[in-house]
Amino acid sequence: MQTIFEAIKKIAFEIDNAIKTADLGYANEENASGEEQLKLDVLSDQIIEKNFASVPEVISLVSEEKEGELELHTAGSYIVCYDPLDGSSLVDVNLSVGSIFGIYQGILDAQNLVASAYIVYGPRIELVIAMKGTKPMLYRATGDHFRAIGEITLNEKGKLNAPGGTQQNWPSHHKAFIDSLFAEGYRLRYSGGMVPDLHQILLKGGGLFSYPGTTDKPHGKLRQLFEVIPFAFMYEQAGGQAINDKGERLMNLVPSHHHDTSPCFFGSNYEIEALKKAYGVK
Ligand code: F6P
Repeated sequence: MQTIFEAIKKIAFEIDNAIKTADLGYANEENASGEEQLKLDVLSDQIIEKNFASVPEVISLVSEEKEGELELHTAGSYIVCYDPLDGSSLVDVNLSVGSIFGIYQGILDAQNLVASAYIVYGPRIELVIAMKGTKPMLYRATGDHFRAIGEITLNEKGKLNAPGGTQQNWPSHHKAFIDSLFAEGYRLRYSGGMVPDLHQILLKGGGLFSYPGTTDKPHGKLRQLFEVIPFAFMYEQAGGQAINDKGERLMNLVPSHHHDTSPCFFGSNYEIEALKKAYGVK
């Protein structure tokens, strides 16, 4: 697994450089979810593919930007599912974006995720790695290498509220719940980039990130294999919770297709318990 993490560190520097220097235009293609691809999405995908091509532990890759599975080393042990540049439409307004990696062993379902990692490209490059049995570890880039900063632990209750999706399409019980958090004093922190938004909640001790099922997207927007499950694992390892709109752990998801989505809620214990009450689920 260490060789995978070393590849992810190299990827972080290469994608950061691409963000700072490459063309920000459209690639004139759509990705597997029907979204318009930026040249930067394609380039980030190529950078990741190139780096994992020389890691024998990686059996195959599943990318948000690709339709199928790309086979690499049949004798390997892990499948890496990744979103090469999440929130890429924010690059042209110079906001933070990220890359997300889920490392799976066996069939691609949440219970077979063995580690996850994400990179934040912001004023600095940061990397968080989570493995079974330990707290997520934060690393920060200094010069050409990453330095370990410390473990991440969520408080029981936080102060931040990051509500995703278009409000007019939210279910009424979701709107009432989000309003109740603001009435309790929660502060709005939502950039539209899943990685920096979830990272902020993790580093500032807690809160809630929500992306519900909406009238236009009843199954949510965020993709299970590359977005939802890797972050669900992070939040649970940090002492928080991650559930869907039925109150089920996202770590029990069994995707039917690579690009399946799910309503998702990530937070510290207080906010998730309050959400379960508001949704009438256990
Ligand atoms: O998956 C893409 C993404 O940009 C996430 O990074 C982000 O959390 C979400 O979409 C934002 O969606 P919306 O603008 O609908 O809240």
